[in-house]
Amino acid sequence: MKASELNPLSYGVIAGTGAMDLFSPQASYVVTTPWGDPSSALTEVSLGAAEAPMTAWMIQRHGNPHRIPPHRVNYRANIHALKQAGVEHVIAINAVGGIDPSLKPGDLVLVDDLIDYTWGRAHTFSDDASQPLAHIEFARPYAGRMREKLIAAAQSANVAVHVGGCYGATQGPRLETAAEIKRMAQDGCDVVGMTGMPEAGLAREAGLDYASVCIVANPAAGLEAEPISLEALHAVLDQSMAKVAHWLGHLEAF
Ligand code: HPA
Repeated sequence: MKASELNPLSYGVIAGTGAMDLFSPQASYVVTTPWGDPSSALTEVSLGAAEAPMTAWMIQRHGNPHRIPPHRVNYRANIHALKQAGVEHVIAINAVGGIDPSLKPGDLVLVDDLIDYTWGRAHTFSDDASQPLAHIEFARPYAGRMREKLIAAAQSANVAVHVGGCYGATQGPRLETAAEIKRMAQDGCDVVGMTGMPEAGLAREAGLDYASVCIVANPAAGLEAEPISLEALHAVLDQSMAKVAHWLGHLEAF
């Protein structure tokens, strides 16, 4: 089916595979788009345990089961499907490494800028002569009202969040070298992740209000003497998702 046939919901969430269970999933719908298949079905979820919880359409970015690597995510289909399902405001949940040494595993960051180091990804809807060529303004990639709503919700949920920071988007799926992280720090990046782009750019092209909630899973490569432990990284993400769910539970309607 097409996402335009679904009940329109103004909030959309793009999250990792483990996140779904925390948001009381309801019905799921497999949809198709002119850009191919989204990473997962669209699932109606509840944001929080309030008396009248907000509902949202959720997509699992890496599929279910978790198989789609960051460079193979069909970001265009995911954004198109959310737009067709009536979504206006998107909350992206992204795992990151902390480059700023003050960031600790389990910290939450609401980034306000990005640098794109990815390559070869299908990164625009403006891709051939059949569509009008659209240049988007992107100086402030996360400038919309969604981010402001999240700041207010963090205060009312009493969740500590670092407000501001620059997201460096790398190609993955490997983690970075110590020298790459040193260069990214010099460039001004505070966190590093593999999925922030082209998602944020496509959301802007589609006219969606997009914010990224980053969960610091580990100190970035080379910041500690020991190599990054992938087991520890996944454990931090699992623990921190509950904090994110509590936070999103305090979102108010637009
Ligand atoms: N680098 C890139 N992506 C990540 C990291 C990292 O250190 N941790 C979690 N996602």
